[in-house]
Amino acid sequence: MTTSQKAQVQTQFGVSAEAYAISDIHAKGESLAALLELVKPQPTWKVLDIATGAGHTALTFAPHVHRVIATDLTEAMLTKTAELATQRGLSNLEIKLADAESLPFDPASFHLVTCRLAFHHFPNPTHAITEIVRVMKPNGMLGFTDNITVSDKLAEEYYNTYEKLRDPSHHWVHPAPRLQSMFEQAGLKIEATRRLRKEFEFHDWADRQHVSPADKEKLLKMMRHIPLELEALFAPRWTDDTMYFSLWEMVIVARKGA
Ligand SMILES: C[S@@+](CC[C@H](N)C(=O)[O-])C[C@H]1O[C@@H](n2cnc3c(N)ncnc32)[C@H](O)[C@@H]1O
Repeated sequence: MTTSQKAQVQTQFGVSAEAYAISDIHAKGESLAALLELVKPQPTWKVLDIATGAGHTALTFAPHVHRVIATDLTEAMLTKTAELATQRGLSNLEIKLADAESLPFDPASFHLVTCRLAFHHFPNPTHAITEIVRVMKPNGMLGFTDNITVSDKLAEEYYNTYEKLRDPSHHWVHPAPRLQSMFEQAGLKIEATRRLRKEFEFHDWADRQHVSPADKEKLLKMMRHIPLELEALFAPRWTDDTMYFSLWEMVIVARKGA
């Protein structure tokens, strides 16, 4: 990851920590419950949460495991995570500044690695996966979620242009089959998947990343002209003063070999 890409993430998220802390989609999204249900965390486990944001995944797992290390590239996000952990009396959660593509941990350190709604920020996703697999213990688990797009080249580009206009630190959202094959190629065995649909109100979604009025107009225009292939995914619903649309999120639970 280049210095400028890192700086862009830090700039974009440095001013958004509070917004992510109170965002319902992040704090209460269905994928948190799905991860818990599919991963079945154990009280002896040491867990690493990558790109923790305001810590919602780390905070969800902490009561069920021995220890959680919540990592992120953005200091302000980690400060917010630590604040929420203290508020909830979680003394087994610690924070550490770390780039997902170069993790400062020994090989085979964690029973579980989690990474939720962040993979689309990593410019070298295969580096991140290599690092994830490296720090997992033998038989260790990955609890992963990210947004997905459709398997159509032009629609995939349209989707990512839309997301990047809202958040310049967005790198790429992939179709589900590609995501799954990236994990399989890194030697992980996929044990469970689940596709979730979530609905957003346009201004709330855009304001979380401080989108300018001019760019909001461009985004709304793009949504009025979505390609046919994206209609089922975005499913835009227009009202007098706003627009609601959906995104798809994929949950993937995978295991490293013995
Ligand atoms: C949407 S938030 C993550 C949400 C969070 N995982 C949750 O479950 O609520 C995205 C986070 O990814 C972080 N991030 C982006 N690129 C990163 C990288 N290369 N390494 C570590 N963190 C990164 C950002 O700083 C931001 O806090």
